[in-house]
Amino acid sequence: MALPVVLDVDTGVDDACAILLAALHPALDLRAVTCVGGNADVDSVVANTLTVLDAAERPDVVVARGAERPLLEEAVDARHVHGQDGMGDLDWAKSTREPDARHAVEVLRDVLLEAAAGGEDQLVTLVPLAPLTNVALLLRTYPEAARGLREVVFMGGAAHVGNATASAEFNVFHDPESAAVVLDACAALGVRVTMYGLDVFYAPRISKATAAKLVSAGGHGPGELAGRLVGFQCARFGADSATIGDAGAVCTVIEPAGVRRERLPVRVELAGTWSRGRTIVDRRDWGGDLSHDPHGPARSTIDVCLGVDAQRYATLWLDTVSGGMR
Ligand code: BDR
Ligand code: CA
Repeated sequence: MALPVVLDVDTGVDDACAILLAALHPALDLRAVTCVGGNADVDSVVANTLTVLDAAERPDVVVARGAERPLLEEAVDARHVHGQDGMGDLDWAKSTREPDARHAVEVLRDVLLEAAAGGEDQLVTLVPLAPLTNVALLLRTYPEAARGLREVVFMGGAAHVGNATASAEFNVFHDPESAAVVLDACAALGVRVTMYGLDVFYAPRISKATAAKLVSAGGHGPGELAGRLVGFQCARFGADSATIGDAGAVCTVIEPAGVRRERLPVRVELAGTWSRGRTIVDRRDWGGDLSHDPHGPARSTIDVCLGVDAQRYATLWLDTVSGGMR
């Protein structure tokens, strides 16, 4: 039976790559895609998400509009990376479909409570690929919805590197309070969490030549869209290849053995002059005497992805978006 999944996105060039994979791979049962402001404003995110699902011929997948802005700070988009429309300015025909009338948080609640009422095989893997605002609001407003979760696999953070700042990854930096709330709530509610962060994010890549081949197949379907998304990124960064980005987190759900994980305590830095939004991953040997540490161990211990079989994930993504496996 296909694994139930829900994506929470800020589409986003690489979110689009992730949606194509989740919508088309037969091992996954994509039940909803919820949207949040991040790479672009939330209305652009909704429009982009519907457009990608049209290309994948998945009009059945519920799409919902969520939070416009982080809990505390003003929204700051990443159009300098993702283009003016947030999805590569591809001049691709827009969807005419409307999003669900419910708020994203209500859709998440409804999908998860329905899953909780089913058997073990109905439990949902939630894959946030964006600032964690919707998920934080969900877990604080409707904590009972966590009963419908199998696990949370999120793209965000890093043990070692930053991109939005020298210390912090974009999704966590954009709304650090939400990221902290999600880690805290998952620890309290007993939800297992995997962090697919920048330590692995850039490794699975598609070459410019392969992207051009996808585009030349034409047909306005998922393959052509996938090729144009990768092509945009190659041009944007003047590179011969581009990462599949957020799609890597979806790969971990389909083929968990493709990443090396370590179970580690993680906190989110909420202050810090230069480090706000950093995920503090504790890699110390906790066998020693910790009484000297005034902070003590973090409440949240999660699976941190520290290595990836990049070729395996790039191939998984490429085969799926080009082959129309569904
Ligand atoms: C993350 O930020 C966004 O730009 C991407 O979509 C990805 O989710 C990488 O830091
Ligand atoms: Ca994203």
